[in-house]
Amino acid sequence: MERNNNVSAEQLARQQEFMKKIREINDEYFNRTGKKKSMFITTFGCQMNAHDSEKLLGMLKEMGYEEAQEEKDADFVIYNTCCVRENAENKVYGNLGYLKHQKRENPEMKIAICGCMMQQESVLQTIKEKYKHVDMVFGTFNLYKLPEIMYINIETKAPVFDIWKEHKEIVEDLPTIRHFKYKASVNIMFGCNNFCSYCIVPYVRGRERSRCPEDILNEIRELAKDGVKEITLLGQNVNSYGLGLGEDITFAKLLRMVNEIDGIERIRFMTSHPKDLSDELIYAMRDCKKVCNHIHLPFQAGNNDILKAMNRKYTKEQYLELVEKIKKEIPDISLTTDIIVGFPGETSSQVDDTIDVIKKARFNGAFTFIYSKRTGTPAAEMKNQVDEKEAKENFNRVLDALNPIIYELNCQKVGKTYKVLADDVSNGDKEYITGRLEDNSLVHFKGDSSMIGQIFDVKITDCKTFYLIGERV
Ligand code: 5AD
Ligand code: SF4
Repeated sequence: MERNNNVSAEQLARQQEFMKKIREINDEYFNRTGKKKSMFITTFGCQMNAHDSEKLLGMLKEMGYEEAQEEKDADFVIYNTCCVRENAENKVYGNLGYLKHQKRENPEMKIAICGCMMQQESVLQTIKEKYKHVDMVFGTFNLYKLPEIMYINIETKAPVFDIWKEHKEIVEDLPTIRHFKYKASVNIMFGCNNFCSYCIVPYVRGRERSRCPEDILNEIRELAKDGVKEITLLGQNVNSYGLGLGEDITFAKLLRMVNEIDGIERIRFMTSHPKDLSDELIYAMRDCKKVCNHIHLPFQAGNNDILKAMNRKYTKEQYLELVEKIKKEIPDISLTTDIIVGFPGETSSQVDDTIDVIKKARFNGAFTFIYSKRTGTPAAEMKNQVDEKEAKENFNRVLDALNPIIYELNCQKVGKTYKVLADDVSNGDKEYITGRLEDNSLVHFKGDSSMIGQIFDVKITDCKTFYLIGERV
């Protein structure tokens, strides 16, 4: 694929001009009132969105905004939305309804919404008809245009809707404010070509496109210089990274290159699709010291007819074989997954196959979801939608199978010592901090905020289903 660097650089320069103009307006406001303009970003959904929000924050800071403590006090409010399941959408509508009252009290408040939800025509119609207090709407493909969109809104004093149906160029080098100093996410690819029949993502995030390896490696080198120790490589389907780039590059090769970067100590990645997980990748994970012993490998359902209807392109047997192969090469691997219960037509006996996979694969963790009908996907058209009560019952059976295994695997860590990267002060008890083992398990241990961002040896002393307790040795 031809690399079109100039377009990216041109776009970036253009947005920097708008950022400068808005910064001047905000500086003038500060000189006049002694107050800085403030902003509040709310993020729904996955790590991809969380990372997009870091870019929004980076741009807003450059424009002179500071973070408000509470949404109601902010001059600029953004919702970065998700539409993978219906309840995420309902939350956004609920919040927007509330903001209507806030805006009545503070008419200067600007409200922007962006992200996956906005890529759906029906949502745009609803916003236009029922949420007229929204000032700016943009989508997943033109997030970098935030400064320009804000400027147009200031100039025209009218709502701005700017949604693209398709992606254009990848814009590199946006200002980004990282949530953590010592760990960072890096996009390696955008979009998804898999079209799992229940999933809206391919429609709202577009076709797969990979960033050039050099751009990715340069970004990580810069992050390492800036003190980042742990990076997470992000893509909807990282295992097909590199397809279409026209270079001899695969995800496995990329991992090996990232592994060579000085300063980086831990490498994670999200998400893998079982159908594309190559032996080459398993060997790269095994060989690269810095690549964490954790893989998130969604299987979604255990029954082969359901997997076929989901368009997942593997069978239960193939999934289990793959798990075996990974465990053979990397015996201490931690395996996590995503599971959907209640896909159209799924019977209780078909859910037994899901439970069978759980028992055989023995997951260290799982995100479990009740199927949510997404308009525009093939599954939404299927006639045999499952009754809510039945889905809920099966969902509970799935949890009952998962949780004892997760607990048992967690308890096997008691008495052993692991390297732990300290993350945050514990919510419940300020004398404790939380951290992650290399395999991504969560551990609470005594400490204070000065330890955040460093790696410690921690001996595990107790286990719960969803976390461990330990002490520094
Ligand atoms: N309903 C429920 N869960 C879904 N997911 C994706 N689409 C749906 C849907 N329509 C889940 C899948 C995916 C995760 C990110 O979200 O398990 O792996
Ligand atoms: Fe959705 Fe399937 Fe793509 Fe994952 S791989 S984003 S579940 S379509």
